Amino acid sequence: MAEAKIKTIRSMVNEINFVGRSLLSVNDLTDDQMYGLFNLALALEPFNRSMVPLVTGNVMSTLFFQPSTRTRMSFETAMHRLGGAVISEANPMVTSSAAKEESLSDMLKVVSKYANVIVMRHFNDVDARQAAPYSESPVINGGWGHWEHPTQALLDLYTLYRTYGRIEGLKVCVASADLIEARTGHSMAQGLARLGAKVVLASPQAKRTPEDVREKIASRGISVEEAFDLNQDTFNDLISGMDMVYLPGCSAPKGAEAEAFKAVMDNYFVRYETLEKVANDSNRTIYVTHTLPRRAGEMDLRIDTSPSQLYFEAIAYSVAIRMALVCAILGV
Ligand code: CP
Repeated sequence: MAEAKIKTIRSMVNEINFVGRSLLSVNDLTDDQMYGLFNLALALEPFNRSMVPLVTGNVMSTLFFQPSTRTRMSFETAMHRLGGAVISEANPMVTSSAAKEESLSDMLKVVSKYANVIVMRHFNDVDARQAAPYSESPVINGGWGHWEHPTQALLDLYTLYRTYGRIEGLKVCVASADLIEARTGHSMAQGLARLGAKVVLASPQAKRTPEDVREKIASRGISVEEAFDLNQDTFNDLISGMDMVYLPGCSAPKGAEAEAFKAVMDNYFVRYETLEKVANDSNRTIYVTHTLPRRAGEMDLRIDTSPSQLYFEAIAYSVAIRMALVCAILGV
């Protein structure tokens, strides 16, 4: 029986046809490959608290030049669940030879001699994109600068797919006080639009989604709405008509600008009452997800224990979809 399941998994991996490839942007995957990964993740979900030895003998390196709880640990969990091994640098500017000014390209060239796949988070997307081709093993973008965080989008798309059984036709508001810096927002908006969701990008006009992201979506003939400069009332009116609110977070300024930023962030506060009213009046659930970590004041914490909460649900799905991605890249 287990052998039959592994055979099915192998045929799914073959169908995805992504062995040996890097995932730097959500656009490195075709729509069919995304759905292929969702179906593979579904098959792997039963093993995300146990083990299925599909990539035994392989090594993953996690190089995280910025802090992380979820991305690094869920990739490492995925690799362990698949029977592989992990070598990790959680603070490479201190504990690796990056501290001795070794270039990122040299580092990737060297680490790829040890590891079969590298998951890297980096504060500078230009440096990361320039260095990635020096790796002799596939590289997975675990969040680069303000550019993209494709596997976060993949796990949030998978969570939506698991919640509704589809993505096409769903109305999703991606909202942030700063959509310029929200790398997850960039990946998610593109993934959602490509899979047929109706997307509204809500932000201050001065912090709207970068032109290159909007152009990439438009180049596929997809239109995405933008809503600028909402206040808390108009934002909550807008989300009343949505199936999901997606809060990608972003880096908040420190020091003198912090208070002004908090005031803008307050305009995108998801009220519990908004969700409750729609549930009572129309018997409809508006789901809320946040990529986490979240800050105080971003949403009503009563949502945590309501049917709308998807952000902790997504954590379990994150292991299954990352197991699927690792299998798709390494082969089984
Ligand atoms: N969502 C996310 O990327 O979380 P971490 O920063 O904890 O990895």
